[in-house]
Amino acid sequence: MKYFITTLIALLTSVSIWSQGGDSLALTPPMGWNSWNKFGCNVSETMIKDMVDAMVESGMRDAGYEYVVIDDCWQVGRDSLGNIIPDPERFPSGMSALADYIHAQGLKFGIYSCAGSKTCQDRPGSRGYQFQDARTYASWGVDYLKYDWCYDEGQDAHAAYKTMSDALKECGRPIVFSICEWGESEPWKWGKEVGHLWRTTADIRDCYQCTFDWGGLGVLDIIDKQVDLWKYAGPGHWNDPDMLEVGNGGMTVDEYKTHFSMWAMMAAPLMAGNDIREMDASTKEILTNNDVIGVNQDVKGEQARKFMDMGEYEIWAKPLSNGEVAVCFLNRSNFEWNLDYDWSKQTMYFVKDVSIRKNVYKVYDLWEHKEVGKTNEKLKKTIPPHGVLMVRLHL
Ligand code: GLA
Repeated sequence: MKYFITTLIALLTSVSIWSQGGDSLALTPPMGWNSWNKFGCNVSETMIKDMVDAMVESGMRDAGYEYVVIDDCWQVGRDSLGNIIPDPERFPSGMSALADYIHAQGLKFGIYSCAGSKTCQDRPGSRGYQFQDARTYASWGVDYLKYDWCYDEGQDAHAAYKTMSDALKECGRPIVFSICEWGESEPWKWGKEVGHLWRTTADIRDCYQCTFDWGGLGVLDIIDKQVDLWKYAGPGHWNDPDMLEVGNGGMTVDEYKTHFSMWAMMAAPLMAGNDIREMDASTKEILTNNDVIGVNQDVKGEQARKFMDMGEYEIWAKPLSNGEVAVCFLNRSNFEWNLDYDWSKQTMYFVKDVSIRKNVYKVYDLWEHKEVGKTNEKLKKTIPPHGVLMVRLHL
């Protein structure tokens, strides 16, 4: 009987934690910081601890950034029992100690591995060691795993990610699972049952519009690839258009605002990728904009849809809870957009809880942090080149 009750409790717990490919993890898009975009392989416990301190001091933690993720290059080999070995020179205190440091600041600890035999930087991958690695991560206090796709050696992506997903579910610790196979096998179609977020494209580059031979993408090209993916996102399972480049120097302030606004609209994970220790004022203003973050973190968990495409000008809407909606006017062009917008002519057919014909909504500008009009009058604004106007309609 005792065994029966214990088993029943264990079963109920696991069902409630891991129900329907999801759980209570990542009910809103994960927020945090990741080492890759700025530091590449140059990771160490000293730098990570500095970053943790900076996240607290700068207000990033209070703004909602939670996961501190060490990307590639923390691992150097395996011991004779197959256990993964962190770089002893760069992480001399070990991963448990680092996890403790991060947790003591109220933050969570993320780490990186790869479904292939090696990572993208030729470090040991997890192929053949998935369950062992998951147990190791749990013993260290890991809360988040980003799992890459280099050296995949012809594996089936869905199956390979499912193996690690199963390993994480059995490791005894709730761990957010970030699928990073670059959208190659349409992970939006199977990712919900396997992890909490999935990359939809090749790696982001720190530019507004640029393309690279090997597949890196700028902000605009990434946005264009998200247009039809809204139907796959929801609480616990998110499209991931890659980490943020805000503050890394390759774009103008307006372009970074566009990047951040559109990631918020697309219910994307907000993983900062800059050096938090030396953020300038505009970077901090962008990354800690509570009004924009509020749109990203809205509990309804809907991804924005593009409902007006006029070539260089686009309008996107993200239904929010409490009968509200966020609207983002995106100026892709190299010139100012003199907006003169008549709300009564809008056709946000998919925003069911907002009726502009029935109600008059106030229009709140999420970058100026003030009301800029009502929906029964025209919205007149100048939107800078490559910039956005992002507003929230509320009663
Ligand atoms: C791939 C991923 C990146 C980063 C690097 C690390 O390119 O897409 O986000 O993790 O590997 O090597």
